[in-house]
Amino acid sequence: MALIPNPRPDPHSYFRTDQPRLQHVDWVANVKFDARTLSCTATLRFDRSGVVDLDTRDLEFVYISCRGSGRIEYEIAPADSLLGSRLRVTMPEGVTEVTITYRTAPTASALQWLTPEQTAGKRHPFLFSQGECLHTRSFLPCQDSPGVRFTYTAELTVPAELRGLMAATHIARKPHPLLSGLWIERWQMDHPIPAYLVAFAVGDLVSRDLSPRSRVWTEPGLADKAAWEFADTARMIVEAELLFGPYQWGRFDILLLPPSFPYGGMENPTLAFMTPALLAGDRSMVYVVAHELAHAWTGNLVTNATWGDFWLNEGWTTYAQMRIVEALYGRDAQELQAALLMRELERDLAGFADRPQYTRLATDIPATVDPDDVFSRVPYAKGYLFLSRLEESVGRERFDAFIWAYIKEFAFKTIDTATFLNFVAAELPGALEDVRAWRWVHGPGIPPDVQDISGETLDALAALIASGRPPINDDVRKWDGTAWTYYIESLPRDARTICEHIEDRFALSRHGNVEIAWAWYLLAIASGAAFDRAALEQFLAGNGRMKYLKPLYQELAKREDLRGWARSVFDRCKVGYHPIAASVIGRILAEASSAT
Ligand code: BES
Ligand code: ZN
Repeated sequence: MALIPNPRPDPHSYFRTDQPRLQHVDWVANVKFDARTLSCTATLRFDRSGVVDLDTRDLEFVYISCRGSGRIEYEIAPADSLLGSRLRVTMPEGVTEVTITYRTAPTASALQWLTPEQTAGKRHPFLFSQGECLHTRSFLPCQDSPGVRFTYTAELTVPAELRGLMAATHIARKPHPLLSGLWIERWQMDHPIPAYLVAFAVGDLVSRDLSPRSRVWTEPGLADKAAWEFADTARMIVEAELLFGPYQWGRFDILLLPPSFPYGGMENPTLAFMTPALLAGDRSMVYVVAHELAHAWTGNLVTNATWGDFWLNEGWTTYAQMRIVEALYGRDAQELQAALLMRELERDLAGFADRPQYTRLATDIPATVDPDDVFSRVPYAKGYLFLSRLEESVGRERFDAFIWAYIKEFAFKTIDTATFLNFVAAELPGALEDVRAWRWVHGPGIPPDVQDISGETLDALAALIASGRPPINDDVRKWDGTAWTYYIESLPRDARTICEHIEDRFALSRHGNVEIAWAWYLLAIASGAAFDRAALEQFLAGNGRMKYLKPLYQELAKREDLRGWARSVFDRCKVGYHPIAASVIGRILAEASSAT
């Protein structure tokens, strides 16, 4: 029997392969801080005429028309709480363009509207978007599935005192011809990208050049610190090009967002978004830059077909991140980083004890489950281990040739796990059998035959931890943020005495490196060590990265004596969180209280 492909390949989008396919968008958006709304016109061009279903969420439609035939019929289905509202438009014969005039909701899930108080400068408001995974539809009606790629132009109207940035190529900035006090910023993306990579930000922003093709954008006051922290960016691009082939996106710029940015980094093309927590002062978190840069190939050139194939984006990118770190900072640094990733993996595997399906590489995420809710380090770490295992099986030289071939074959394409495996079978015959790939891809957990991670620093850390004695100045002299974090993460979860001791001695909860403070608080909560509640509340209010917030709230919710306090902290902090973080953490706390 012939296999009949599903015309709706992505459970998290209304996109259908048997309908016209989006090719290009011309987007015009007026940014209105007072009303917290974008007033927009989007002209969508398709490959043919006919009926098309679009993803939208919380959009207020004003007018929908087709060139030539004026206003046209459309139908908005009742909203699904996760997918949003399907917008069905019919393009008459011969018409392949639809123009949609609409407004975004102040609660749009992709957008965070910050008050001046929530920025570093405290003087101007700030706005930024986060499209991945299902959020672009809350500011742009489109086929919001990674399987659909399109080019776009954009025109942002912003207050004159602010800059509007997009993850695209800048074309022009000029005063609005009619409205004083407003400026227009024009952008263009000539490479076809999936909807989740459309991104923009508006704020009081300045930049520093890092190299001829890179600069970092920050609020005034942070720019010099950022330029110092990210000084290795140019060398990273060189290493990444050796690994993957030429960088195809023109510029690689970095935008440092306010602390409520919910991720460490986001690989928006030409302009990677990053948390300001990367400014650790010791360059120990620049691996996040290596990671987002690597996505320019794995993710942005070769894109996962659905969110169930997410490991193709993140596992590959983690593998590349480790290779770049190894090339720039040496094997010891890379091994330490991989070992720390394994700690994060262990925590997430334990969290999925009752849902082992989410510990496979190729997962099935049903249409009722939000990919944000089952986000974990599994696709990152297990994907990295799987690719390292393949490398080990065929040798680095052959694997490097394979990487080039893989990128070349699938650049600007969207692929699923089966397509990847077929390509491996063709290019590296016997390798899948050798590593027993099925267990990696479809089996739960981590197969037992993973390579040992060891190294000089790691071995010294392991000896110290095994000794049970707290570290002294001689031990920690050479520790950077990663070593410290790894040390804390490796202590037994009931190490209350050591936890209190290292705080007395090294003031870790107030450390300038956020990862260290975070790891310390996690251990303090788990072990029952004393900590300053006001200081933890300040941490939870001032760091919107979900990597920190989720485990902290999870650990707090496990403690009967702290659960109520955690709820009240969340109630106080949530206005400052990005909508994605607010809803993910809200659900964690709701589950924790219903489980008791
Ligand atoms: N693409 C992700 C961020 C993301 C994941 C956004 C899922 C929305 C849904 C980004 O590339 C990423 O992986 N960031 C990591 C960086 C780290 C692994 C170096 C992060 O934020 O922790
Ligand atoms: Zn990533």
